[in-house]
Amino acid sequence: SSIDLNACYDLVMQLVSQSGEIVAARNSQRKTVQIKSHPTDFVTETDQQIEKLLIDGIRKKFPDHKFIGEEESSEGKKVQLTEAPTWIIDPIDGTMNFVHSFPHSAISIALLVNKVTEIGIVYNPVLEQKFTARRGQGAFYNGKRIHVSDETDITKALIMIEFGTNRESDKVKVVMENLNLLVRKCHGMRCLGGAVLNICMVALGGAECAFDFGAHAWDYAASEFIVREAGGVTLDPSGGNFDIMSRRLLVANNMEMANQLVAEIVQYYPSPRDDE
Ligand code: IPD
Repeated sequence: SSIDLNACYDLVMQLVSQSGEIVAARNSQRKTVQIKSHPTDFVTETDQQIEKLLIDGIRKKFPDHKFIGEEESSEGKKVQLTEAPTWIIDPIDGTMNFVHSFPHSAISIALLVNKVTEIGIVYNPVLEQKFTARRGQGAFYNGKRIHVSDETDITKALIMIEFGTNRESDKVKVVMENLNLLVRKCHGMRCLGGAVLNICMVALGGAECAFDFGAHAWDYAASEFIVREAGGVTLDPSGGNFDIMSRRLLVANNMEMANQLVAEIVQYYPSPRDDE
């Protein structure tokens, strides 16, 4: 069956704006949190409300579309990516930031058809930063075309890093080892507190690379696509092919940069994967 991607894009842009108004209005308020996989992994009622708003809004127009949503999945549902049109949703990435009123949280949504990404949108409504991409049409920041940086030397790179919500010692050890190795190698390390916005900094040309162990398909789907549409590359952190369900990702402005990062970093394999 054919799919009207323009109609999908228009609808989702409208739903994302609506969602953004709610997130922005509540950013400075006090929130009640529920704990998920780890004591520092949170969900708020706003996460759940935004996910529902997006899913209900899309389902009304496209009843046969499928959804992989952060909050749905964390209720124990299995994630299965099929050929069907599938929306992968993180209603609020950087929930910890949102809880603290630190102004870097984002709504992330991507549409995959036949497992190929067609649409990616990331919106930080607090700072009004909107990243958008359609397959083959480039990436945009607040409507302006964006490109990755053209740096090829890792010693002159800014590298995005995230500490993650899993603070068990084996995971923290890998994070710290990588921080320790890379900070002496590159211009600087940066951390926005959310995988999605970190990855988008590579698309914007503000950083050269980002890597992540432990985030999920919903953190990667829209953001890695936006990087590719901005001219960058997505790999597994070992240098192999990216696997969206593996909870492992490396994005870079180009292959030269990616290869230098792959050669440096200590690997971590989170479990379980998103699809098992
Ligand atoms: C989390 C953030 C965090 C990353 C975690 C993610 P959430 O997403 O991106 O920076 O380290 O792995 O799960 O829970 O805020 O949507």
